Amino acid sequence: MTVPSIADEPWSLSTRHLGRRVLIHAQLDSTNSLALALGHDPANHGLVIVADEQTAGRGQYGRTWQAPPGSSVLMSVLLFPPAPLRRPAVLTAWAAVAVCEVIREITGLDPKIQWPNDVYVQDRKVCGILIEQRSGGQVGQAPAAAVGIGLNVKQPAEFFEHAGLTLGGSLQSLTGSTFDHHDVARRLIRRLDDDHGRLVDGDFAVLEAHWRSRLGLVGRRVRVEALNGCHEGILVNVSLDAVELAADAEAPLRLLPEMVRHLQPII
Ligand code: BTN
Repeated sequence: MTVPSIADEPWSLSTRHLGRRVLIHAQLDSTNSLALALGHDPANHGLVIVADEQTAGRGQYGRTWQAPPGSSVLMSVLLFPPAPLRRPAVLTAWAAVAVCEVIREITGLDPKIQWPNDVYVQDRKVCGILIEQRSGGQVGQAPAAAVGIGLNVKQPAEFFEHAGLTLGGSLQSLTGSTFDHHDVARRLIRRLDDDHGRLVDGDFAVLEAHWRSRLGLVGRRVRVEALNGCHEGILVNVSLDAVELAADAEAPLRLLPEMVRHLQPII
């Protein structure tokens, strides 16, 4: 499939798997839609699609994702992940941790992950992540995953006020400094590639440690909204294998992360 883009640009990222091809579009309906459309061909593994503007950006739970043209990192990474990486919890943790580490690197701020896939800085949501999968086209073909990342970079505080996004923020609105959204995107691709390399080598420990720390909830009282009901108690541990809760009113709980819809501190 030939896809017109404003630049099939060699960003020369020297990456191992991801971002060796980056398609940069001035405008797309949704970078995730294009990534999924290209997910018929495993040769597209690692392709990154970047748009300066989306006309139908998608968010979680069927919501839309809005960003003024040129204001944000709007990007999707197309993967054909091996089975251990194909889990939504792994892909979400991987993307959210990479976003946090890049924000820390360029701003010095201390981002937090809000379960499952939002990144907050100073109680403002700066990034949302949307993972979408499509089944393999051919028998035996690995399914494709589009890992979509929307990171607010240049919006002024007034944008969020006018849009009624009272909890929204951008790197610029929170720091007063200016950032180039393509530079942020390049840093993010490099970080995603480094971390992806560790995961395909079977090392999940580094990702888990960063994820646990960025969630910042172990040892705190939390409310867990799971597929099997709601629970409250002290969060004993979080790993990619289990959310472990010393529950108030029942036996200790061990839930697969994919079972947990929301995990929030009780203040
Ligand atoms: C959320 O609801 O918080 C998730 C938002 C995800 C938005 C990004 S922007 C790039 C990619 N393409 C889309 O259509 N959505 C994701």
